[in-house]
Amino acid sequence: MRAALTAAMIMCLATSAMAAEEAGFLPWKDPAAVAQGQGIYTDHCAACHGDRLQGEPDWQTRDADGYLPAPPHDPSGHTWHHPDRQLFEITKYGIEAIVGGSYKSRMAGYQDILSDAEIAAVLAYIKSTWPPRVIAVHDRINRDASDR
Ligand code: HEC
Repeated sequence: MRAALTAAMIMCLATSAMAAEEAGFLPWKDPAAVAQGQGIYTDHCAACHGDRLQGEPDWQTRDADGYLPAPPHDPSGHTWHHPDRQLFEITKYGIEAIVGGSYKSRMAGYQDILSDAEIAAVLAYIKSTWPPRVIAVHDRINRDASDR
């Protein structure tokens, strides 16, 4: 009886450890990946999203041609509202491909420029800059997304 109970508890712990691992796949706790991602960010993203991840001014208002400016990747934007998978696909394929229809966006896909590991690294760098409170919410968004 006691052994069975212990086994059940171990199963339980193992399941919750697995759930914790499912809180996204970005390697934001890996200092080497984050350092690599920071370099990629500077080279490929900072021109639009800002060297401090602050985005472009007035980023919620479309310009005269109907395009949105680049949003911040810091907590004042909504990057952290999206699970890892979506952030990855936006970066890999670009917004037009993800939204579909006739949606116009200046956020092009990086599939011919960055490898999957490099895309994960640059997004990991972005996540690593968020305060713990935002990271915790983002982990939960990832877990909820993987439940579906
Ligand atoms: C030419 C300017 C430009 C560059 C360079 C650029 N972006 Fe963007 N990005 C945008 C714009 C503009 C949007 C918003 C587009 C829209 O919604 O129409 C955007 C949106 C995004 C979003 C979605 C954010 C959200 O909250 O929905 C992600 C993620 C993103 N970019 C990541 C990156 C990464 C990572 C890089 C570098 C590898 C990068 N971007 C480089 C202009 C750019």
